[in-house]
Amino acid sequence: MNLHNGTLIFAHRGASGTHPENTMTSFEKAYEVGSEGIELDVHLTKDGEVVVLHDEKVDRTTDGTGFVQDKTEKEMKQLDAGVWFSQKYKGEKIPTLQEVLEWISNKSMRLNIELKNDLIPYKGLEEKVIQMVHNYGLSDSVILSSFNHYSLVKVNQISGEIKTAVLTTDILYQPWHYVKSLGASALHCSRSYALSNMVAEAQKYIPVRAFTINDETEMKELLAKRLSALMTDFPERAIKVRSSLFE
Ligand code: G3P
Ligand code: MG
Repeated sequence: MNLHNGTLIFAHRGASGTHPENTMTSFEKAYEVGSEGIELDVHLTKDGEVVVLHDEKVDRTTDGTGFVQDKTEKEMKQLDAGVWFSQKYKGEKIPTLQEVLEWISNKSMRLNIELKNDLIPYKGLEEKVIQMVHNYGLSDSVILSSFNHYSLVKVNQISGEIKTAVLTTDILYQPWHYVKSLGASALHCSRSYALSNMVAEAQKYIPVRAFTINDETEMKELLAKRLSALMTDFPERAIKVRSSLFE
């Protein structure tokens, strides 16, 4: 067990600084280096499968083109999700959420599933994700977050068990009131808020997790603030920094 200051390291889209984001190889790497959690993003295919990738379109991170919502799971599985990052990762596939849940179910890792339903409000995404998390008995280790706060309220109405977190890049005034009003449990905030003096007050009321913290100096600053978690593309770096300060 790592001895540290209490700030957990979440691998943002897996170890996405060194591996193709949101793929099994990036999640494996995050696990291997000792991350306490993983953050990933999900969308819904045309035939209703929950798949793991960041953008609404497959263009940036695969060898295909077009919207996820216009493709079937089978079509998504034919795409290469590694080669855009490096030839070394040629053949890497887009994972389904089910595959990730299966993989993580025997590991003591937290999982932050970001519902990417702020630009496209995928119908039924919340229900499907909640059902799967329940099926794997992972309600205690999963956090559902979204920039779509209506979706968080919906999650809380469907399942009181799974924790939700408000995602925002805005500087909210006394955010704990807002977070609690939605029935959410935590704030996932951007670097600027986390690095500001304003965060200290929020931490008194709710857990605050910051994204995306890749710079060593900023890691040190936020570790000293004892944030609940740092989300980073470089979990190995963050764990080393934390060890150098607190072990
Ligand atoms: O969940 C934190 C962070 O992932 C939100 O932004 O665009 O990287 O999904 P993004
Ligand atoms: Mg995300």
